[in-house]
Amino acid sequence: MTPISETPPFTLTEYSRSQRIQIITLNNEIITAFNQQTTQWNVQAIEFTPFLRFMLATILDNICENQLGYCLKNIITSRNKGAFLLQFEQQENQSVDCYIKLSTAISHLIGLPNFDAMSGKFYARFIINHTDNDDSYLRKAYHPLTLHNDGTYVDENTDFVLMMKIGEQDAIGGDSTLLHIDDWQALKHFYHHKIAKTPFQWQSPPSKQVQHNVFHPVFIDEDKHGKPQLSFIDQFAYPQNKEQALFLYQLQISLEQDENILSLTLPVGSILVIHNHYWLHGRDAFTPHIALTRELLRQRGRFFN
Ligand SMILES: [Fe+2]
Repeated sequence: MTPISETPPFTLTEYSRSQRIQIITLNNEIITAFNQQTTQWNVQAIEFTPFLRFMLATILDNICENQLGYCLKNIITSRNKGAFLLQFEQQENQSVDCYIKLSTAISHLIGLPNFDAMSGKFYARFIINHTDNDDSYLRKAYHPLTLHNDGTYVDENTDFVLMMKIGEQDAIGGDSTLLHIDDWQALKHFYHHKIAKTPFQWQSPPSKQVQHNVFHPVFIDEDKHGKPQLSFIDQFAYPQNKEQALFLYQLQISLEQDENILSLTLPVGSILVIHNHYWLHGRDAFTPHIALTRELLRQRGRFFN
């Protein structure tokens, strides 16, 4: 355990199977104080009044002796890390309102969430069930959600992705999968491919509520260190010729077969935040169960300049 200061308001440890992922634990005193100091605002208030979302972030940071925001920003923008798992004591016993407010405080400590067209809000809640009629793999429980980056089909920068597990029942399997771009064994091969920087067409299905196409390469502009960044998802890429199709096909197979994919079982109430262009994320298939339910919350946004 590596304390932030001599009397840490929260703890910071490394995930046992990857030094890249930092685990931040907020103790009961922090959560109790956060709930008490934000009780005057319900979820509707923070949906209707954007500046209140920053008030949540400020309150949480103050409770954490103004060290949490600094710590989170350092982790999430670090090329070698770029991911943290935030958890807190008794996290399964908190209300959904608490989950939404806490996740909003976290997102507003590192950046500004984009409008999520699927929900019409700055965040989206969605449920994975035994049956569904979704038009993408997002809510198809028995099909893996293959490794991808978010925001491939929108115009806004999508620097970070926040994923929170709100609740689940009879959920067996469905673990989160992660792969850091620098751990991808075939990175050099694909990064130096002759069409790695060719603009591809990206388009989402109707449920995403984004009508237009966008165009960008699979390897977007390099980061501040001059290193590669990915913006890829198999479902929403629309190749315009056989060469593009073969590139996408081989790239996806390479990602899915990589030996360095991490699989994480996330407890209810935990919040996973990743740098969207350093990490690919996905989800394993669930084991079939008629009562399967998992509810998730996501926020996607851009860092502060
Ligand atoms: Fe995603």
